[in-house]
Amino acid sequence: MRSDRFPIGIIGGTGGMGKWFAYFFQQEGYSVQISGRSSGPGPRQMAADCPVVIVSVPIEATDQVIRKIGPCMPRESVLMDLTSLKEAPVRAMLDASVSEVIGLHPLFGPRVASLDGQNIAVCPARGERWLPWLKDIMEKNGANLVETTPEGHDKMMALVQGLNHFNTVMLGLTMAGSGVSPQELRRFSTPVFRERLDHLSRISTHPDLYAHLIAGNPNTDKLLTSYGNNFNELQTLLSSGDVAALTKMIKKIEAI
Ligand SMILES: NC(=O)c1ccc[n+]([C@@H]2O[C@H](COP(=O)([O-])OP(=O)(O)OC[C@H]3O[C@@H](n4cnc5c(N)ncnc54)[C@H](OP(=O)(O)O)[C@@H]3O)[C@@H](O)[C@H]2O)c1
Repeated sequence: MRSDRFPIGIIGGTGGMGKWFAYFFQQEGYSVQISGRSSGPGPRQMAADCPVVIVSVPIEATDQVIRKIGPCMPRESVLMDLTSLKEAPVRAMLDASVSEVIGLHPLFGPRVASLDGQNIAVCPARGERWLPWLKDIMEKNGANLVETTPEGHDKMMALVQGLNHFNTVMLGLTMAGSGVSPQELRRFSTPVFRERLDHLSRISTHPDLYAHLIAGNPNTDKLLTSYGNNFNELQTLLSSGDVAALTKMIKKIEAI
């Protein structure tokens, strides 16, 4: 560890994203303390040792973990999280601590090889000391930082994650109910369809995470009304066999 490097604590550092960021910071020369439910230092010890603590636990455990670590964080330290939703965790970090607070959402999963070209949503919430350090280390590794508010972030995630994953779940449920075997589907698949199947497979192996991304974001519900209206309109057009009207409707997609 270089002399200008301080220890970084990651609660949830034994899991997917936590492990990814632990490796990232180690490569940058920092020492990293990690903890899980039954391993690593407790909150008091981690807060005493590490001026930077990052919470990277499942969405449903985030509030409880923040409420344990928050009160232990000194004023001059920074508490951050990697949660895929931002309003509730950032509010909880502000409520539970007197330290600096920055909400982060890496817009990628632990399968990517590096930060190069990846987007990260950043919600600075309290303090000014740590943000330049964070920006510098992320940007010099090629990340694109998108600064936003927790509310703005969650509205965007209703489209990027909530609606997107809802749509994929609908596709998966419909295909599962069709009676066609996965092997047969793969044999007839196109490259684009194989990408959809891979997305389905990621969702079905982490059902808790995706259920929270869809149902945990109150903004998704509003979009589903529009989704339902579009579904009904498309189905009516399909039943009537009106190809010209369907083409006209598909052309509306150009707007995005
Ligand atoms: N996966 C993604 O693609 C992705 C992308 C962006 C952001 N995120 C966000 O990153 C966070 C972590 O997701 P993940 O996919 O990395 O989850 P994960 O692989 O399931 O890892 C969860 C980690 O949290 C620990 N943990 C669970 N409950 C805990 C508790 N009550 N107290 C302390 N530690 C606890 C686990 O430790 P033990 O098992 O050792 O107990 C494990 O280290 C989530 O907030 C998610 O929204 C995920």
